[in-house]
Amino acid sequence: MQGKRVVVLTGAGVSAESGIRTFRDNGGLWEEHRIEDVATPQAWLADPSLVWHFYQRRRRQLQDVEPNPAHVALSQLQNGLDSMVLITQNVDNLHERGGSSDVIHMHGRLETLRCEATGRHEKRMNSTDFSDDFLLCTCCSTPSRVRPDIVWFGEIPMHMEAIYRAVDACEVFVVVGSSGHVYPAADLVDVARRHGARTVLVNAEPPLNLDSFDEVHLGKAGELLPGLVRQWLDSEG
Ligand code: APR
Repeated sequence: MQGKRVVVLTGAGVSAESGIRTFRDNGGLWEEHRIEDVATPQAWLADPSLVWHFYQRRRRQLQDVEPNPAHVALSQLQNGLDSMVLITQNVDNLHERGGSSDVIHMHGRLETLRCEATGRHEKRMNSTDFSDDFLLCTCCSTPSRVRPDIVWFGEIPMHMEAIYRAVDACEVFVVVGSSGHVYPAADLVDVARRHGARTVLVNAEPPLNLDSFDEVHLGKAGELLPGLVRQWLDSEG
């Protein structure tokens, strides 16, 4: 991949070996909660406490998990290539803690909270920020309630202009740990293909969009990626 413009898109599978549950595997998050009850704007209006507790629990978990070899391998890939853009569907902070930079979080982030009055988001990861009581913003003279800085179903993913710019221009498009269920993320591989990119998958199981990949590596990202990244950094293709 040396000398190529590379884009990597990750999903929940890249954080699975760190102990963060995926969504649609056995035991996944969506087995325990209905999406419409905890991950939509309507849910936040109907039962903000339920939604707040769901996200505060996931925010608190960030303190108990560490990046796994997949996160570290992707940061080595980014540091070893002239051009690599890392896009993630994940809302955890493990790519950054694994050494990656300029990570594009298209579904938002657990680390930040968003003022409901101004829409401003700010990093809120102090011990007082993990309360199950609602929290207030620091941007308004009369503080407003903050909401999770997460893109809920029915909301528009973030940074899509920058994402399409990178995907349109890339020569190699790699997906790690995603089931291909959720759009527009699941369509990015076809956008890359239409622009002539070579497409590569690293995933535990065949995803819904399996046929869109030129090269498929089935297995655990934490086990496969360190060796694959060494190959990719040594290769021109
Ligand atoms: N290594 C590689 N792949 C793995 C691993 C692993 N250790 N463990 C699980 N996987 C794969 C699964 O086979 C599955 O295909 O990761 C994928 C996880 O799929 P999902 O749980 O659907 O997660 P994701 O694709 O990221 O979901 C996309 O859906 O609920 C929304 O906003 C949420 O960002 C999320 C989006």
